[in-house]
Amino acid sequence: MRKNFGVKPMVYPMPVFIIGTYDENGVPNAMNAAWGGITEEDEITICVSADHKTTENFTRTGAFTVSMATADFVKECDYVGIVSGNKVKDKLERCGLHTVKSELVDAPIITELPMALECRVKSYDADSCRLVGEIVNVSCDEEYLTDGKIDPAKLRPITYDSANHTYRVIGDIVGKAFSDGLIFK
Ligand SMILES: Cc1cc2nc3c(=O)[nH]c(=O)nc-3n(C[C@H](O)[C@H](O)[C@H](O)COP(=O)(O)O)c2cc1C
Repeated sequence: MRKNFGVKPMVYPMPVFIIGTYDENGVPNAMNAAWGGITEEDEITICVSADHKTTENFTRTGAFTVSMATADFVKECDYVGIVSGNKVKDKLERCGLHTVKSELVDAPIITELPMALECRVKSYDADSCRLVGEIVNVSCDEEYLTDGKIDPAKLRPITYDSANHTYRVIGDIVGKAFSDGLIFK
């Protein structure tokens, strides 16, 4: 027997993207977004509500960053998803997160979150809430690499479990991609 849950925005795994932008005074802001993913080699699409401070910011600057939330900063990543920059102007400072300006786009990189995408806004549609960004760079703190590659065991990115409203750390290796399925070929 399977249980039907009806219409739900529910998949596994859901990301925990932290979108970084600058406000009109150059103050960094961030929000948490789970509804998004890669849509081209150099493109990310995220559903961002029109009333968020983030939306006002990236519409003006034409840029944003997307950091991967990590297990080490769960509380901070959750906080930026609960409180709006429309009401709290110094969200990042309040939760102890720091930023540096991206060298490539007009958006902040959160220093505590080791992996980030730097993006230019390609389009935004307020009705569908779809933000499409061109990925101009992906960077990761060298401490979180093994043999020059991003090491999830060090990074400890988290996933949002929308069925239970919890965050889980991304875990064990269970197979080799583009390889394990070959046994059926
Ligand atoms: C786990 C989680 C996932 C979220 N996913 C999204 C999302 O995909 N899209 C969205 O527009 N808001 C999402 N939110 C809500 C925003 O992060 C929240 O409204 C935030 O305060 C907006 O900040 P801003 O107004 O400073 O931009 C999410 C919040 C949480 C906690």
